Amino acid sequence: MGDAPEPLPLQRHHFDIPREVVWLNCAYMGPLPTAAATAGVEGMRQKLHPWGIELEHFFEPSEALRRTWAGLLGAGGEDLALTPSASYGISLAARNLPVGAGEEILVAEEQFPSNYYPWTAKARCSDARVRTVARPADGDWTGAVLDALSSRVAVAALPQVHWTDGGWFDLERIGAAARQVGAALVVDATQSLGAIPFDVERIRPDFVAGAGYKWLLGPYSLGYLYVAPHRRGGEPLEHNWIQRANAAEFARLVDYTDAWQPGARRFDVGERSNFALVPAALAAARRIAEWGPAAIARSIAPKTRRLAAGAERLGCRTAPESRRAPHYLAVSLPPDAGEGALERVREALSERRVYVSVRGDSVRVTPHLYNDDEDLDRFLEALAAAL
Ligand SMILES: Cc1ncc(COP(=O)(O)O)c(C=O)c1O
Repeated sequence: MGDAPEPLPLQRHHFDIPREVVWLNCAYMGPLPTAAATAGVEGMRQKLHPWGIELEHFFEPSEALRRTWAGLLGAGGEDLALTPSASYGISLAARNLPVGAGEEILVAEEQFPSNYYPWTAKARCSDARVRTVARPADGDWTGAVLDALSSRVAVAALPQVHWTDGGWFDLERIGAAARQVGAALVVDATQSLGAIPFDVERIRPDFVAGAGYKWLLGPYSLGYLYVAPHRRGGEPLEHNWIQRANAAEFARLVDYTDAWQPGARRFDVGERSNFALVPAALAAARRIAEWGPAAIARSIAPKTRRLAAGAERLGCRTAPESRRAPHYLAVSLPPDAGEGALERVREALSERRVYVSVRGDSVRVTPHLYNDDEDLDRFLEALAAAL
């Protein structure tokens, strides 16, 4: 996980989370920092007076967002396209990667649908097949993926962190093994970018897609796609004016051109300059960049550790730290908890206004820098009351 920076103190003052609310659900929806909400309102207010909207507003904020998000990946602004969602980015990757008849596209069991359906569609039209790596009993996703990689695999489409329980994929090892068999690596970083380090130089993925509204603490409907240099000659999902080389010459847009904006910009979604959302996403991204993903991970880790220890004392099961990401904890209820236990847990959490996600028979708890010990203890109290 790179160098170990100092852990950060509590950052609740950057958010508008009332004392009575225990938000342990960043994997569902990251709260906007208050500065990001202010920037978003300012951006929306620009449309009250459209005569103030000038050329620079189409380019500068979105370029700054591109650079800031790219920095979190260890990349540069040139490397990133702006998208509305993870699925948009993954569909772009699927469109541009060659997959031959009889070849395989590797996915992990119960992977998020946005990183599954684009591949079933791709497999259908390529006469290829999607191969699912089963959830390993020992939690070792990396080993399971390495075992499944063969020269038949054209694409490994994986997350950095499994969205249901934080199961951890060592993408550096997986990337190296994929290159050896000639497979492309596509990563869905929605549940990790912003919360833990990501380094494109070491992982060397072909594409990395993600949504900005979870661990990037941004608004809904903005995402990113990292495109490796050797994949930049491809086709966008849609054609629009701002992808083209002459986009900044408003008086000459109909001098149609086949030339593109440099880097990954040719893959940008139409209206990517979204005047309200981009400033909000940028303010949130700058806050995260200031904290730094390594420091964020280091500061959330003790919170999930404390939750895990408390849950284990109540007879619940959690994955060992070596098998999960530091910002994620899945709590499985004790096998002898009896019928209706999950329902009782739900009620006890709801009475205390503790927000988590219940997935199958486990509870997904995802804290952030705004959660203090009182929040963590209220979750554990609810669990104790229900069991
Ligand atoms: C792993 C993962 N990818 C992607 C998404 C969101 O996908 P999209 O941006 O396509 O709506 C989620 C949402 O929960 C997710 O958990």
